[in-house]
Amino acid sequence: MDIFEIDGPTRLSGSVEVAGSKNSALPIIAAALLAPGVSNIPNAPDLADIRSMQMLLESLGARVHRDKAGLHVDATTVDNPVGDYDLVRKMRASICILGPLLARCGRVKISMPGGCSIGDRPVDIHLRGVKALGAKIHLENGYIVAEAPAGGLTGAEIFLGGPFGSTVLGTDNVMMAAVLAKGTTVIESAACEPEVADLANCLNAMGAKIQGIGSPRLVIEGVKRLKPVVYPVIGDRIEAGTFIAAAAMTQSRLKIKNCDLNHMMAVTDRFRHIGVQVESNGHGCEAALDGPIEPADITTQPYPGFPTDLQAQFMALLALARGNSVVTEKIFPDRFMHVAELNRMAANLRKEGPSVIVAGVEKLIAAPVMASDLRASAALVLAGMAAEGKTVVQRVYHIDRGYYRIEEKLNKVGAKIRRVSV
Ligand code: EPU
Repeated sequence: MDIFEIDGPTRLSGSVEVAGSKNSALPIIAAALLAPGVSNIPNAPDLADIRSMQMLLESLGARVHRDKAGLHVDATTVDNPVGDYDLVRKMRASICILGPLLARCGRVKISMPGGCSIGDRPVDIHLRGVKALGAKIHLENGYIVAEAPAGGLTGAEIFLGGPFGSTVLGTDNVMMAAVLAKGTTVIESAACEPEVADLANCLNAMGAKIQGIGSPRLVIEGVKRLKPVVYPVIGDRIEAGTFIAAAAMTQSRLKIKNCDLNHMMAVTDRFRHIGVQVESNGHGCEAALDGPIEPADITTQPYPGFPTDLQAQFMALLALARGNSVVTEKIFPDRFMHVAELNRMAANLRKEGPSVIVAGVEKLIAAPVMASDLRASAALVLAGMAAEGKTVVQRVYHIDRGYYRIEEKLNKVGAKIRRVSV
């Protein structure tokens, strides 16, 4: 198991490149199941989660390989529509094979995903959506079994809102099931995240007919078949936001390549409020902070609101603000595993229900800490770069799920992070 040893405090400078979006690539790899033949995602990031998705697709009968030209998915044969427990429990995004397999094979059996360290993550809305298209669903020994009627799925009007607003992978699943259904599907309260729009654009490039992309109302006219595609995904807005936070926490200036600030308006708004200069420069952005970190209140919301996937990283930044901030989590109210770890580094954070009161401190102090989930571990790396002394982050496999060699990228711009196998 690897750990990170991080020497701080650090100053960063130079330019760092953001990879293709993990949360775009995962459902787009699943979408390749919809079309016999070979699809290619040229910039699919080489991450642990992408490798888990690759293994899952291989278990279904597809052939997947990576080379310099990208990640190639040969979905000519998909003959085992079963998402096995051992593969699905590793990564909840595995649920996004539900829609494509139902559309392609007429039947799917997939292990019911359990909770995870960021809280309960039910899939009731996914199931409600595919049921509306005509699928029959039952549970069998911890597995969801979904079956399309003999004549296939049929378009329907579907409201996909839930207690926490829209659902990203739920929208993806219903959209992927609907593209091959007979007739027209209207999804109301669809998720508007750029990654959902990316999937919709990819499906249209495969021959689907989806309108309203990026809006909460998607209109999908079913087609008979789709064709394989070569589709590069958008830059990862969460990785980009993490690098901007890195520049801010270390009082530095960074150029961040391959990110689109149009996907990050709520995030740039909060960065600017804090005092960070963030400007687009054509192919990415430049971020700098030279001066105090101002406090800011943050509430996570579905897009275009502030993303839950940057909540932990912002909390690390606000821990050093000159004043008090309130961070409220409205997507995953239990996603606060990083609070206790940041407090071990001399932050002053107090959890009150779904909020955390962040009383800014003058400095963070290095400590041994434990990564608990992907974004929480990114927050600990940021804190480690700003803290005085040597921070040791255990269980960095969490960060490898969603950041491609983050230590190498940050070391190139001046960080001092060592990966050590223990
Ligand atoms: N929800 C339900 N029922 C459902 C589905 C969702 O109640 O059937 C609730 C969830 O419990 C949550 C809210 O709806 O409270 C939103 O969850 P959503 O379904 O949108 O999350 P997801 O699709 O499972 C994706 C990302 C997450 C990201 C969330 C929210 C991928 C692979 N995962 O998950 O990314 O936090 O959307 O934006 O796209 C990460 O990358 O670190 C990560 C966790």
